[in-house]
Amino acid sequence: MKPKSKVLVTRRLPGNALDRIQEKGYHLEVHEGFFLPREDLLKKVEGAIGLIPTVEDRIEAEVMDRAPELKVIACYSVGVDHVDLEAAKARGIRVTHTPGVLTEATADLTLALLLAVARRVVEGVDYARKGLWRAWHPELLLGLDLQGATLGIVGMGRIGQAVAKRAEAFGMKVVYHSRTPKPLPYPYLPLEELLATSDIVSLHVPLTPETRRLMDRKRLLAMKPGAILLNTARGGLVDTEALVEALNGHLFGAGLDVTDPEPLPPGHPLYTLLNAVITPHIGSAGRRTRERMAEIAVANLLAVLEGWEPPNPVV
Ligand code: DGY
Repeated sequence: MKPKSKVLVTRRLPGNALDRIQEKGYHLEVHEGFFLPREDLLKKVEGAIGLIPTVEDRIEAEVMDRAPELKVIACYSVGVDHVDLEAAKARGIRVTHTPGVLTEATADLTLALLLAVARRVVEGVDYARKGLWRAWHPELLLGLDLQGATLGIVGMGRIGQAVAKRAEAFGMKVVYHSRTPKPLPYPYLPLEELLATSDIVSLHVPLTPETRRLMDRKRLLAMKPGAILLNTARGGLVDTEALVEALNGHLFGAGLDVTDPEPLPPGHPLYTLLNAVITPHIGSAGRRTRERMAEIAVANLLAVLEGWEPPNPVV
């Protein structure tokens, strides 16, 4: 009997969308560990015709060449900066992603980080837990009022717009910068003007060669003194070393769901700063959202394997 064609999924996914892969007659291999060392990825991908990677897996030409029959890389993410798209194109491998479904969850986490930084929630929790809370004081843990603050959104795609809607509910004034102005009820500003005038800057652009280190030392220092930086997009958008400097005096704080490197090594200077609130890339981590992401990734994968145009193509 001819062996079944293999589909490799690099992590267990929430929900039961993966069952459909087996139901269609493919041999499903799911990596059960939390980590997938590169050497293991290179071995496991051998013989695969389909691959569902996470943002943690770097899918470069070397990986693709281990699987000459690979037809589709169905990313379990909206971001595709972890895949060498040119290499995939050159090999005729389709690449797909999961746009739209994680917009609201990511916008929610952006607001969670904003509230945590602006109102010093993590510091407050630590303070109480350590038994330091002995009295109410008018000057204890003073933060930034959101009502009336200006939120500058960099990248006004789906997630940027979902953040803007939430910010309006908090009484914030929204301004934005993106590649081109859009028909939106918010003022469009050149990036430098947005940085100079916003109390909070939130990044929502994809990581590309053009946006890498978008927030370099010069731009971080061009932010308003006492402002907050939020990044729920990609760590590579920010110069980490320069951010550490900016957080020591220039900025009020930063809320980061993504970092560079990611994850940060234990003891990294960012972890020692009380005004940096860091979460482990959980922007899309609502259970229903992650289940839907699995359904979409599987639908994209099966479409390609069955000879159809996938619903969410990138390449
Ligand atoms: C994405 O989808 O790109 C997120 O970073 C992970 O869900």
